[in-house]
Amino acid sequence: MALPVERGQELELEQIEIELLLEGIYRRYGFDFRQYAPASLRRRVRRRMDGEKVETISALQNLLLHDPAVMERLLLDLSVNVTAMFRDPTFFLAFREKVVPMLRTYPFARLWVAGCSTGEEVYSLAILLAEEGLSDRVRIYATDINETVLERARLGVFPLDKMQEYTQNYIRAGGARSFSEYYVARYDGARFARELVDGVVFAQHNLVSDAAFNEFNAITCRNVLIYFAQPLQERVHRLFYESLAMFGVLALGQKETIRFSPHESTFEEIDADERLFKKVR
Ligand SMILES: C[S@@+](CC[C@H](N)C(=O)[O-])C[C@H]1O[C@@H](n2cnc3c(N)ncnc32)[C@H](O)[C@@H]1O
Repeated sequence: MALPVERGQELELEQIEIELLLEGIYRRYGFDFRQYAPASLRRRVRRRMDGEKVETISALQNLLLHDPAVMERLLLDLSVNVTAMFRDPTFFLAFREKVVPMLRTYPFARLWVAGCSTGEEVYSLAILLAEEGLSDRVRIYATDINETVLERARLGVFPLDKMQEYTQNYIRAGGARSFSEYYVARYDGARFARELVDGVVFAQHNLVSDAAFNEFNAITCRNVLIYFAQPLQERVHRLFYESLAMFGVLALGQKETIRFSPHESTFEEIDADERLFKKVR
């Protein structure tokens, strides 16, 4: 007679299956999700099981290991690409007020937008820098783990029905022009001016496994670290620390912090609400 499996035991088994799945993904494809936050991982794996119409995680694993297209789809699920232009507008106000003057002190500066998703944040920062007369002096490096979203970012075409919301965000972010100057409405969406991102380097970069690739004067990484468990967050904090020039700024936005991390003492907080930190040692 089969013994009833307790709920707690079921969850434990599911956890084992997820760990095996993540190990398999890592060994087969090199993507390392082993230290992502468990609750969010579980939800996304379940969603992919529904999408692939399989009943068990082991069945999903079997599909994944043999079919890279399934991996692509899981990658999209795992990498939560929700974003918006001038998302959390007060962040951009703080950026204008506290980061722009620092960038202005350099003849040439580099800004890394880590986890840029489909590019809305990159275009927002490019608009802000253009308005501050810094387009030619600040080069943006925009990276994400996911090549599919980067392709969309390079295109710079965003849904037309979002433009009203983005216009409001832009105004609340301190924008003083008419937002519609920056795009042309086409049948396929709002096509943003190419000049905005002419100098932007879009590249795939994995915060979990890739090394530092340049020295930056500012790094923004918003709504990414929330998906990582603490040890992984600390690894990424170290990566940011190593990638920043002295007195460079790490901009994490409202949801993340380096407080209580081993790197806390190497940074000074310059904006508590928007979580802007300056590297001081
Ligand atoms: C919710 S979006 C945030 C987009 C934007 N920063 C914002 O705040 O609107 C999170 C992004 O992080 C990316 N991401 C997740 N894990 C990553 C990793 N290990 N390395 C680089 N990017 C990653 C995802 O692909 C996704 O595009």
